[in-house]
Parts: sequence; C-alpha cells; structure tokens
Amino acid sequence: MYRTNTCGELRLADAGREVTLAGWVQRVRKMGSMTFVDLRDRYGITQVVTNVERDAALQEAASHLGREFVVQVKGTVAERQSKNANIPTGDIEIIAHEINILNRSEVPPFTIEDDTDGGDDLRMRYRYLDLRRGAVRRNLELRHSMAFEIRRYLSEQGFLEVETPVLIKSTPEGARDFVVPSRMNPGQFYALPQSPQTFKQLLMVSGFDRYFQIVKCFRDEDLRADRQPEFTQIDCEMSFVDQEDVLQMFEGLVKHIFKYVKNIDFTDPFPRMTWADAMRLYGSDKPDTRFGMEFVELKPLTEGSGFSVMDSAEYVGAIVAPGCAGYTRKQLDELTEFVKRPQIGAKGMMWVKFEADGSIKSSVGKFFTDEQLRKWGEHAKANPGDLMLILCGATMTTRKQLCELRLEMGSRLGLRDPQKFSCLWIIDFPLFEWDEETQRFYAMHHPFTSPNPDDIDKLDTDTGAVRATAYDMVVNGNELGGGSIRIHDSELQDHMFRLLGLSEADAQYKFGFLMNAFKYGAPPHGGLAFGFDRFVAILAGLDSIRDTIAFPKNNSGRDMMIDAPAEIDRSQLEELSIDVVLPSAENESK
Ligand code: AMO
Repeated sequence: MYRTNTCGELRLADAGREVTLAGWVQRVRKMGSMTFVDLRDRYGITQVVTNVERDAALQEAASHLGREFVVQVKGTVAERQSKNANIPTGDIEIIAHEINILNRSEVPPFTIEDDTDGGDDLRMRYRYLDLRRGAVRRNLELRHSMAFEIRRYLSEQGFLEVETPVLIKSTPEGARDFVVPSRMNPGQFYALPQSPQTFKQLLMVSGFDRYFQIVKCFRDEDLRADRQPEFTQIDCEMSFVDQEDVLQMFEGLVKHIFKYVKNIDFTDPFPRMTWADAMRLYGSDKPDTRFGMEFVELKPLTEGSGFSVMDSAEYVGAIVAPGCAGYTRKQLDELTEFVKRPQIGAKGMMWVKFEADGSIKSSVGKFFTDEQLRKWGEHAKANPGDLMLILCGATMTTRKQLCELRLEMGSRLGLRDPQKFSCLWIIDFPLFEWDEETQRFYAMHHPFTSPNPDDIDKLDTDTGAVRATAYDMVVNGNELGGGSIRIHDSELQDHMFRLLGLSEADAQYKFGFLMNAFKYGAPPHGGLAFGFDRFVAILAGLDSIRDTIAFPKNNSGRDMMIDAPAEIDRSQLEELSIDVVLPSAENESK
C-alpha cells in the first residue's frame, strides 16, 4: 500500500498512530538538529519531522529533498509543539522513520503556492504544475460539485442527458465556426457546434420533452476574460412550455446550485427587468445590480442653456456617486481620462459637486445657475456630499459609456463585492438588431427565437420594434445564460428567415433538416443555456473564466502547454486535399 492516509486528514485524535503518507515536497526547513518537510497532496499539507538524535542519516536525507520530489513517508503521528492554526492538520506532525523517494523533480519554474511568483504565460506553459496549486485546484473541485448538483437537480426534474454530435454542418450566425476537413469527402468540411441549438430542438420533435447536456461548444470569436474558444454550456430544452415555465424551472436550478454548493438561500423570486429598462437605467443588457447608481436622464433640464455640447446631444445622462463630492481635481481628471479611453470613447465628462454645506461646484457652472444645477440634483435625488457625473451624446453610445463609468465608480467605492450575488432576469429583448454596415437585420438571439405573440402583426411593418420571447439570466453584471421560446411552426420560421435576408434556397441549404422536421409534428418548445465556466467563475469570485478550466487557451486562442494550434505534415494536408496559402507578408518572411 502506497499510503494509509492523505496529507489532509490526520488530526490530534490520530496521535500515536503509525501511518504512511505519499505526496509532493512543498518545502524543506532545516532548524538546528531538526528538518521539517511539508508534504502536499490534493487533500492538504502535513508536516513531517526528522531529528538528528533519533536518526541522523534520515535527517540528512530529508534535508536534501528537493521541491516537488515525490516521496513516501512512514512515521508516527504526534502532537505538534508549535501548532499552525492556518491548516486543518496544524495540530499534528509525522515523526518519520522512513522516507522513500518515489521520483525526483527538477526545480519547478515557479513556486507551487497560492501566491505564486509565476506569471500567466509561464503558468499556462506548465499548467500541470499550476494545477497543483490549491487556488486553481479548488476551482476544479467547485466545478465538479456544481456539475454534480446540476445533474442531480435536472434529473430529479425529469430531464434526460443526451449527447449531440461534435462534427456538424457549418451554419455561421453570430460567431465564426471552427471547421474540420473531411478526408473521405474531399473539399467538404464539418463545423464544430457553436451550441447544440438545432439538435436540442430536433430532440423535442422526437418527443424527449426535457433534455439537458453539459456540453462543449466552440466559437471562433475575439477572446476576452469571459470568453474561451471552447467552453461549456449547461444546455437545456423543454416541450409544452411557455416563458414562465422556463424561467421558473431554471431559476430553480440556479437557486439549487447556490444552496447546495455555496449554502446561500435565495428565498425571493429573482427580479425581472425588461431589456428597454436595463438599457435606460444601466446602459447594458447585463446590469450589475449589486449596487444602485442608476442612470438619470437630464436632457429635459439642460435644454436651451446655450451650452452647445449638451444642446446638440441626443441624450444627457448622469449617475450620482454617493459621498464623492470631496473628489479632488486629480480624481476627476482620472475619471475623465477613463471615459476617454479608446475602448470607451467618450469625448469628455462633466460633473456637479453637491457639497455637504449646500454649496454647488460644477465643471459646467459657466452655463448653468446654481438654481438650475440644484434642480438636476433634486431630479437625481442627490444628497449633500454627493457627486454627479454626466455624459452626453448619441443615446445608445452614451448609455454604454455611462455604463462603464458606473461600473468603474462601483469598483472604486467597493460596491462590487464578489461574495455578494445579485441575480435577475432580463426579458423582452428585441427580436432583431439592425446592422448599419450590412444594412440588414440580424437575430438578436438566434433565428429560431419566436416573436412575442403580441408583436407578430408588426413583423413586416415595424420589424425593429418586435419583441422576442427571449430572456437572459444575469448575475453580478455577467450574462450567465440565455434562451428563448422557439418558433415551432415552419411557416413562421420561413417568414423569420426571409426577414433575416436568407433566400429560400439558403434557408433550405442551411436549415432544411430542421424545417423538414417541423413538418412532422413539432411541439411548442423553449429552453436556454447557461455558460458553465462563467457560472463557476462567478461562484469562485474570479474575474476570468480561465482558471475554471483545467487546460484553457490564452487570449490568442493558443494552448501554451501543448503548443496548439500548430502546422500539420504535408502528407496529412495531401490526404485532406488541402493546400495552404498564407497571407503574402507571412509568405515572404518564410
Ligand atoms: P448563447 O449564445 O447566449 O445562447 O450562449 C449561452 C451562454 O453561453 C455562455 N457563452 C460563453 N462562455 C464562454 N466563452 C464563450 N465564448 C461563450 N459564448 C457564450 C454565456 C451565454 O449566456 N443556443 C443558445 C441558447 C438557447 O437559446 O437555448 C445559446 O448558445 O454564458
């Protein structure tokens, strides 16, 4: 037997027991005649001690153990002289009488500690070492418990987990597809699914009225902290439901996870907010509602001042930062620089300080009287001591900029506590999004989303105003998941494709299989998908989903450890009937 116990389980009650442990050497400390070895495995750290008086050779051998050596230790559990309250095994140590080196290790390229000295790239290159760190391992443990609870809840509700194919047909909408050449069908390609959307709808046609799958999805899109090219969805679909049924069922799932994984009870129903209100009050369809600071529209109060910046703006919006009237010139300049960053793109920022003594100071004091500014304050419910920050310009653009400013102020004021969770549903999304560049409508969610029954008569006459039966679950400013009630009528689906500019032939080529299936008794159905990596990141309080994934990719879509993507052999290319033509600049440099 390699070990009788793990490195995380021995306690004072075990004192006197003969045990065998196996693990990695975290640290070796020589103190006079004693040598201490911290032995680590997945379960914890246990201190091992050797003593010159007891066994000089063993003490000498222990002193020469290197970091990350794999060793087996036989010894007696004993009460520790100086206890370590920071670790669960801190009351005991193992008095070793035998240490066997099972494997040696080169000096690791970074310290295997929660607070490591390794930079991102290095940690990614040696991810298998990074995964030895408790901080990363705990995220994978959390991921496991969540997957387990998800399966438990959904199984108890009668959902069936069904796998869908990974090699499918390319039907890009939204993101780009990753494609896979087919050797047996030269010149033809599979695509990797961006989601199992059409398959789960087909399963509804097949009568599997409650489906789920914890499934890998692939999207070739620009990467950010909350996006990976391959990520995991908790994908779900139900038949014979309306929006209310879906929201109830999956609100239940989210509450179940919080309860059984985090021991947090949400007793009240999650709030629901229309997309239009979310944009008006927060400038985002995924508002962070852990704090207030909602937008206030000032346009009617600023009209006709002769201040051309505001007069010419379509929209003037403000937020009130509580207790910030004392902000210095430097702090205000910093905020102005923040909103002027290229990725935010505001031209400038205006401010009004409602001082504690009742006086008013403002960057637009030249154009407005104190009386007028006081009215703004009343309208915005600003209190003495508060600071009002104002942006203006085109409505949607300015709202998005004000959203960034609001989040920045929330962070500065410590209002975005990762241990606090604020969940809500966003409902009543628009069905379509107009794209100026291509001069056509796109589906805001996807082309299978059904219009709100009350708006169907507007499909041709006021297309942009049609609301979808679509919903998103938002937690702490993250889009955790989204879905919709689907179109199950092939005529309405045809109509939708037409509005999206898809010719009949195109629609038939891309989605013929689904349209045909709908001719054979498709039940009313709907569902949603949660981003599993994001769900784990939110519960773990992480900013990036990367550390919820065992082997993630970096921001260029590269796996630094296995060095992928990579070129393939000429012979492999020939087999696939593929010729690679690189862009000319790269060609020349080769
Ligand atoms: P959607 O495209 O909104 O819907 O995706 C659902 C959820 O998946 C997560 N997500 C991602 N997570 C990490 N990296 C990515 N690149 C990434 N892209 C999306 C988000 C998102 O909310 N088939 C529909 C669902 C449905 O209608 O049932 C779909 O895929 O958390």
